[in-house]
Amino acid sequence: MKNAFRSDISPSEITSRTLFESRRRWMQGSLASLATMAIAPASAKSRDGKDFPVAFESEKSEFSTAEKLTTYSDVTRYNNFYEFGTGKEDPVEQAHRLKTDGWTINIIGEVHRPQRFDIDQLLRLAPLEERIYRLRCVEAWSMVIPWIGFPLSKLLDLVQPTGNARYVEFISLYDPEQMPGQRSAVLDWPYKEGLRLDEAMNPLTLLTLGLYGEILPNQNGAPVRLVVPWKYGFKSAKSIVTIKLTEKQPATAWNVSNPSEYGFYSNVNPQVSHPRWSQRKERRIGEFLKRDTEMFNGYSEWVADLYRDLDLSKHF
Ligand code: MTE
Repeated sequence: MKNAFRSDISPSEITSRTLFESRRRWMQGSLASLATMAIAPASAKSRDGKDFPVAFESEKSEFSTAEKLTTYSDVTRYNNFYEFGTGKEDPVEQAHRLKTDGWTINIIGEVHRPQRFDIDQLLRLAPLEERIYRLRCVEAWSMVIPWIGFPLSKLLDLVQPTGNARYVEFISLYDPEQMPGQRSAVLDWPYKEGLRLDEAMNPLTLLTLGLYGEILPNQNGAPVRLVVPWKYGFKSAKSIVTIKLTEKQPATAWNVSNPSEYGFYSNVNPQVSHPRWSQRKERRIGEFLKRDTEMFNGYSEWVADLYRDLDLSKHF
């Protein structure tokens, strides 16, 4: 399998370089060298036996939770990715069809410098961080996942939003040949999501290229996805090909499919029930007892201010 993450550097060479680099980094106590280290992939078998590169060296961030990680197996085998079917195990079984070679992400709309980026350019754009985030799905289950990525704001700064830009739209790949789930009308394809510009610029909003130290497995949204940890999981669009800055609030896939159940904001909020179930509790995948769901999924400190003037029961 050829892809943009590959290089001809041998795994042994990487091991020693990684050790050397991490020692140097330890001594310098700096994040500055991460970008260069992070783009030094080596080919190796990943733990699920696929020929993945060992992709990333990165550092924990101040935004990481110290909670117990959900296992790699659950993170990569229990997924929502309707492009590959509506069952939780459909993505792991079907997503090998997705071709990520030569992938680009096009930034358009209300920006002074519209630009198309390939994955190598994204990898070089900003220091990669490991962010251990809680992901709370609207279906009342949750996981704790060590993502690899960088703040979306770094990319948006580069393309320079115009004064008219108020929202950011994220559009996933449309290709029913590769994504058999798109042959069914379960959603209005392609999958689309959106954020207000200030939400998109929040330091928590992560443009994500990997998890558990590896490139993103296809079923988790390869090669590039969004992760917005204070919102229900469906806001975190996978396999993104276009980011469009807009003046008007964009239409989003779940809101179009069922506006009374899925609002534009979709902030995790235990006070506001889904019409068919409560959002007060959640089941952490791998655990037996339910736990209380926290306001903004526990990220209030960083995001509550964004909604000071908003009635969150109306703007759910
Ligand atoms: N993105 C696309 N393109 N298609 C999808 O069906 N599902 C969403 C979100 N992003 C989805 C998507 C939902 S409902 C959730 S909970 C998360 O992806 C799941 O991400 P994970 O499989 O990496 O845990």
